[in-house]
Amino acid sequence: MADASILNAPPPGLSDQRRSDEPCTIVIFGASGDLTWRKLIPALYHLYCQGQLPSPFRVVGFARRDKTDESWRGEMRAGVTEHANGPHDGLERWEEFAANLSYLRGDLNDSEAYTALAARLEQFGEPALRANLVFYLAISPSLFGLAVDQLHEAGLLERLEDDAAGWQRVVVEKPFGKDLQSAQELNAHLIRHARERQIFRIDHYLGKETVQNIMMFRFSNAIFEQLWNREAIEHVQITVSENIGVGSRGGYFEEAGTLRDMMQNHLLQILSLVAMEPPPSLAAEDVRNEKVKLLKSIRPITPETVAEHVVRGQYFAGAINDEARKGYRQEERVDPASNVETYVAAKFFVDNWRWSGVPFYLRTGKNLPLRASEVRVQFRPTPNVLFAARDDLDLQSNALTLRLQPDEGIFLRFNGKVPGNTIATRPVRMQFGYDSEFGAYTPEAYERLLLEVMAGDATLFIRRDEVETAWQIVDAIREGWGDEPITNSEIYAAGTWGPEAAEELLARSGHKWHNPQPEK
Ligand code: BG6
Repeated sequence: MADASILNAPPPGLSDQRRSDEPCTIVIFGASGDLTWRKLIPALYHLYCQGQLPSPFRVVGFARRDKTDESWRGEMRAGVTEHANGPHDGLERWEEFAANLSYLRGDLNDSEAYTALAARLEQFGEPALRANLVFYLAISPSLFGLAVDQLHEAGLLERLEDDAAGWQRVVVEKPFGKDLQSAQELNAHLIRHARERQIFRIDHYLGKETVQNIMMFRFSNAIFEQLWNREAIEHVQITVSENIGVGSRGGYFEEAGTLRDMMQNHLLQILSLVAMEPPPSLAAEDVRNEKVKLLKSIRPITPETVAEHVVRGQYFAGAINDEARKGYRQEERVDPASNVETYVAAKFFVDNWRWSGVPFYLRTGKNLPLRASEVRVQFRPTPNVLFAARDDLDLQSNALTLRLQPDEGIFLRFNGKVPGNTIATRPVRMQFGYDSEFGAYTPEAYERLLLEVMAGDATLFIRRDEVETAWQIVDAIREGWGDEPITNSEIYAAGTWGPEAAEELLARSGHKWHNPQPEK
């Protein structure tokens, strides 16, 4: 008979309630940067308040600026005040939490700084706080290699066969390289001092509840999974729209552009979860194998086919909700003649048995009318008899929308009869909202991701071959664009749904973008 404790144990990967019991120290490189203040410390504070951090734990902030423990804690407290928005947004437990935070001033290329870091870890006294280490690299990717070399030199990072004597994990933020070649170089560098199992490449979209729910939804609901193929589905649209411009990140954006900043990671990740085959288990390697397989099944867009399959765009001055917006070329630290794209729409085909012939339309852009991320699955129409044969009826094909943010939920559109003595019809919606079902609070992506790192589960992180395959897909697109200047058909006013050419991309196949609706 099966052992009951095995049956009740959470499955490896995606287990429902994480709590790492092993004491550990999280060292944040880039501790005076925006991410630390805005996301990482508020997430850790939340986890602490919910009793999900190990006891004891320590956080060491490492950066170049001159600060004391006290002044850094003060800044982090302000971050929590401004950015924490869950059930523990008060500061009642701040002092007890903050007692675990300390600051270390250091240059990333100065070996003495790492010796000082090692000494700090020793001072903690408790051996597990020195043995179990998370190195969070919230720094420029050009410095990742340097940081891991130095950590290794200081005896803090080794390629570990297993976790028997403690664990050392490296978390890297995006952008992971700027093309396939730089990503390969970066991977080759990291792998010198850490095994793949010790490397956690972040894509914060994977930490979002609703993105994780794509898998649950698909693989635990028979009625949908049976329709999840080319027989029933006509096409799929994935929209990630933002209602902000590049703001103060003009310098970064000039190097990146939307293809690298959003499409290479967040959108391709959503696509792989929507379209992948069911993995044999929820273990990290099984899930990631399926995602890589899916990415490899995407029909390559070549420099020759790019014009037919991809549209780029750049916003010019406009307004969103009556608020004036600058054009991209007028943003701070942006070249006034810049050709960098702030919008991309692409039509992909997944050449495998399940999806042959089904277009997947992906689009994302800055300064669009509203902030919303959605996956819309458009089903095929009914046969052209009975109701469908009548052109006086308002019939639409079924559509399923997974609303990832905000107003998280799932909606199914079908046709209903308008009550009365005629046969008038109208599309209606069946809807599930996270808010009404589970209450308003959904944990921040970084809470989940930090917990997973401490638990050593890499399911929600990007594997080496995954990141490289995604670069391969977008590199060919960039190559196709070459140095061609952005044309008039590629620009769009801030506050509109992107360039004309993006509408034509779908119209050529008789399809139409479905724009997300404003939050209720
Ligand atoms: C980041 C991009 O990865 O994702 C930003 O660098 C973008 O340009 C952001 O604004 C969007 O994330 P979210 O969670 O607000 O949808």
